[in-house]
Amino acid sequence: MKQILSKSILYFVVFVLFLAGSLVFMGRIDYRSRFFANWQPCLRGGGGGGHLPALKVYMYDLPRRFNVGMLTHHGSNDDLPVTIKNLPPWPARSGLNKQHSVEYWMMASLLYYSESRIGGGGVSGQEVVRVSDPESADVFFVPFFSSLSFNVHGKDMRDPDTEFDKQLQVDIIKILSESTYWKRSSGRDHVIPVHHPNAFRFMRDGVNASILIVADFGRPTHIQSNLTKDVVAPYVHVVNSFLNDESSDPYESRPNLLFFRGRTDRKDEGKVRGALARVLNNTKGVIYDVGRASDEGIQESVKGMRSSKFCLNPAGDTPSSCRLFDAIVSHCVPVIVSDKIELPYEDELDYSEFSIFFSDEEASKPNYMVDKLQGISKEKWLAMWRRLKTIAPHFEYQYPPKNEDAVNMIWRQVRHKLPAAKLAHHRSRRLKVPDWWR
Ligand SMILES: *[C@@H]1O[C@H](CO)[C@@H](O)[C@H](O)[C@H]1NC(C)=O
Ligand SMILES: *[C@@H]1O[C@H](CO)[C@@H](O)[C@H](O)[C@H]1NC(C)=O
Ligand SMILES: *[C@@H]1O[C@H](CO)[C@@H](O)[C@H](O)[C@H]1NC(C)=O
Repeated sequence: MKQILSKSILYFVVFVLFLAGSLVFMGRIDYRSRFFANWQPCLRGGGGGGHLPALKVYMYDLPRRFNVGMLTHHGSNDDLPVTIKNLPPWPARSGLNKQHSVEYWMMASLLYYSESRIGGGGVSGQEVVRVSDPESADVFFVPFFSSLSFNVHGKDMRDPDTEFDKQLQVDIIKILSESTYWKRSSGRDHVIPVHHPNAFRFMRDGVNASILIVADFGRPTHIQSNLTKDVVAPYVHVVNSFLNDESSDPYESRPNLLFFRGRTDRKDEGKVRGALARVLNNTKGVIYDVGRASDEGIQESVKGMRSSKFCLNPAGDTPSSCRLFDAIVSHCVPVIVSDKIELPYEDELDYSEFSIFFSDEEASKPNYMVDKLQGISKEKWLAMWRRLKTIAPHFEYQYPPKNEDAVNMIWRQVRHKLPAAKLAHHRSRRLKVPDWWR
């Protein structure tokens, strides 16, 4: 009898340990942000995973014309190294260039989290540490502002301006191809931000093996860029975050059902916008504003998003747009109509907990979408709104960076891509017949 009893106790203990283990193992930020929201500071060791050491990143030293030189027009010394002391702030009035400024915030985070300043272990909970010895690096960061280069030099896609954008791409490929570390892996362990759909447009093939930081996969071929190797990063939101969203009844304090502001005449994926404009026209509770991005436009969006329960996010010229991230930081439940969209950190976040999805076809049917949205109960909506408030900090780019903010999330994503990059690298060194099983 005693034996049976102690056996069952043993089984029970093993079972409880197993259960606890699998809970911890599954979905990292989910368990921390939802169940243990208040305990976060004590739970978090370094590197986001609780006790993983910070990802070691070596950052190439590049002349300023590849990065911050594009922010300051008064010919600064091209060879002066960028440091935490002389890093120019992101300009306050940069307009829409800000949307794709992921490259700037990643570089800034590495300057901030440098080994010499914070030590090597990353004990304070950040995901990343900049190392000065390339031999000790897990990955290599290429601080070329390819999106800003397109916006500053290449925007009208005409010579001679665009030549400068092209030249920077040619030059960077040359620098990389001469690097021992690039050659070692064909760039597979290199991290390169190419967030604007037209960034690096002349030479993308040259960096096709690298871990690219992208907005979506609308333009490039699936060989140049795909979800296996690349990281989808949020746009940098252009509306101000809704920080004191503490209304006693947020459901009632948002009188409009659905809000959209933007252009309806988009190319490619954005054609669905025309159909949406027709089916939503003259619908009670729906605000469908046809407007261009401008400073007043942004103020209108802030008002509209904060006074609506749902915010419509149709595809633009490409599957993604900045509007989604504006909606998230406004805690306006996103309604996503974009069949080809890919979303940031989706291995860690379940977007269906705080967003609604319709296919292009569903959304184009008269009344379909509005009926569904009206059918969502207040309780369900409030749960989504609360979840939005919890996850919104993951979409903030800032300097200095903070644990769990957008750059730290991106670095964690880079870490998640590393095993596949290593696998591809190791296999490439010995395979004679590539992927026979395809
Ligand atoms: C990437 O581009 C290079 C040439 O720039 C090419 O040799 C290589 O096959 C491409 N990689 C893939 C996976 O297509
Ligand atoms: C993703 O890109 C890599 C590198 O070009 C390529 O080897 C791989 O086959 C691509 N994966 C898919 C699913 O297309
Ligand atoms: C919306 O309806 C009005 C008439 O009520 C019409 O003039 C307008 O063209 C419609 N707009 C769209 C986008 O269908």
